[in-house]
Amino acid sequence: MSVTILVDRPAERVARITLNRPEALNALNLQAMREITTAAAGLDRDPDVGAIVVTGSAKAFAAGADVKEMAPRSFGDVFAADWFAGWDALSRVRTPLVAGVAGYALGGGCELAMMCDVLIAADTAKFGQPEITLGVIPGMGGSQRLTRAIGKAKAMDLILTGRTIDAAEAERAGLVSRLVAADALLAETTATASKIASMSKPAAMLAKEAVNRAFESSLSEGLLFERRLFHATFATHDQKEGMAAFTEKRPAEFRHA
Ligand code: HXC
Repeated sequence: MSVTILVDRPAERVARITLNRPEALNALNLQAMREITTAAAGLDRDPDVGAIVVTGSAKAFAAGADVKEMAPRSFGDVFAADWFAGWDALSRVRTPLVAGVAGYALGGGCELAMMCDVLIAADTAKFGQPEITLGVIPGMGGSQRLTRAIGKAKAMDLILTGRTIDAAEAERAGLVSRLVAADALLAETTATASKIASMSKPAAMLAKEAVNRAFESSLSEGLLFERRLFHATFATHDQKEGMAAFTEKRPAEFRHA
């Protein structure tokens, strides 16, 4: 039984994890990390789930890692526990993750959003990496993922000053996939997740893997990796069905296999 999250199925083949610590603006404590990663890993194994939405409340996606939980820890504590290493489990989720961000996405909240594959932001969203104002630095991937997402100039600006940017600036910077009106956020994230989930699941998983490989390899290695994954799609039923449906001018009926 989860305490910090709610899990539901807002549409066919779509699961949703809603952060639910309103008293702390969804601050990410260790329990939330365990519950989010465990839920996501379980949904990842479910063949009836083709996309997973990760969202928060209207006021906060997540206002960061839980400062009150971290404040008394020593170097020895955080080093021995390898604090935040548990989040790596979310990066191993192969099902596409769609973040729906309204309100604050600060520190660990911004980093959690960046661990997702498609980031849909409400016009109320506010992003930032304010760790430096607490005397620390990003610890859940911010210095790496933000730099890859928006480039060194902008990442340095945010990480060194701790300033918060609004949704429009985040979109201009390339941090978010789409910007929507706040009251449309839930519908838009569900619709986007539904769209992804309606595709061949193996194709979606391979596509996610190929895009993520771009961050880890040279161009020539990445192109080869992509080509081999592309070749592999020809082993699926869904490739036969998708191409047959195109030539027969009808919607494809994917079996996700
Ligand atoms: C713990 C938090 C929290 C957080 C908010 N709260 N953010 N608790 N950790 N990150 C709690 C507040 O203490 C308060 O509880 C309640 O949530 C409501 O917050 P308020 O501050 O009263 O709300 P508001 O005035 O609207 O201000 C919202 C806010 C502010 C601007 C987002 O809460 C804020 O600055 N939060 C911290 C943002 C931050 O620095 N995030 C980065 C964390 S570090 P009480 O019970 O006191 O009323 C991080 C990575 C660290 O993420 C990596 C280092 C290893």
